[in-house]
Amino acid sequence: MTTLLAISSTPRRGGNSEAALHSFCRAAEENNISVEIVRLQELRLEPCRGCERCEADGICVIKDRMVPLYQKVAAVDGLVLATPIYFGSLAAQLKIFMDRFQCWWQAKYRLKKPFVELAQNKAGFVLCTGALHRKDFGDNVEAVSRVFFHSINYHFGGFLCLQGLDRKGEIEKDTAALLAAYEAGKKFVSTYLL
Ligand SMILES: Cc1cc2nc3c(=O)[nH]c(=O)nc-3n(C[C@H](O)[C@H](O)[C@H](O)COP(=O)(O)O)c2cc1C
Repeated sequence: MTTLLAISSTPRRGGNSEAALHSFCRAAEENNISVEIVRLQELRLEPCRGCERCEADGICVIKDRMVPLYQKVAAVDGLVLATPIYFGSLAAQLKIFMDRFQCWWQAKYRLKKPFVELAQNKAGFVLCTGALHRKDFGDNVEAVSRVFFHSINYHFGGFLCLQGLDRKGEIEKDTAALLAAYEAGKKFVSTYLL
């Protein structure tokens, strides 16, 4: 069965980026793709220590709730990341998640034994929501995400930035934004997962 892992990084349960993520995932479920949504806020992940111990074997020394996430990212077909824009970039929760893949970077570049091969054709997508209509904020999230997906050997499958959304749940009144997230999900699924 085709699988999609959806990572929500907002600390606000039911926040705008999470609602957009649900719309995106609905498109996947309609195509019989198995979707799992993980809320990073609940995992209290420890940031990368930069200890470089992963240089030896590509395994992180920190044994927290990232451990099953590494397995999931190695196993699924698609990965979608959702984040609010915080100070012109991505939320710390998502950045911590990304930085913890330094062990995969070591596995790919130093050990030449990546956990995922490009030929497996896994693909990733990024969704973000922000208050201000500032293209550069979205560009920052996209740029960081591209580096992340490249490092873990996922194809970059697209990016959607929904702006003009500030208060929690504001997106529920913005049918165009929810539709854009759903349509992005449809396109991602048909291009990379079917
Ligand atoms: C700490 C913090 C920093 C923020 N920084 C920005 C920002 O730099 N630019 C922006 O457009 N919105 C900013 N916002 C607003 C959020 O991006 C916006 O409310 C977003 O829709 C929240 O998504 P969420 O409901 O999924 O958390 C910030 C909000 C918080 C709490």
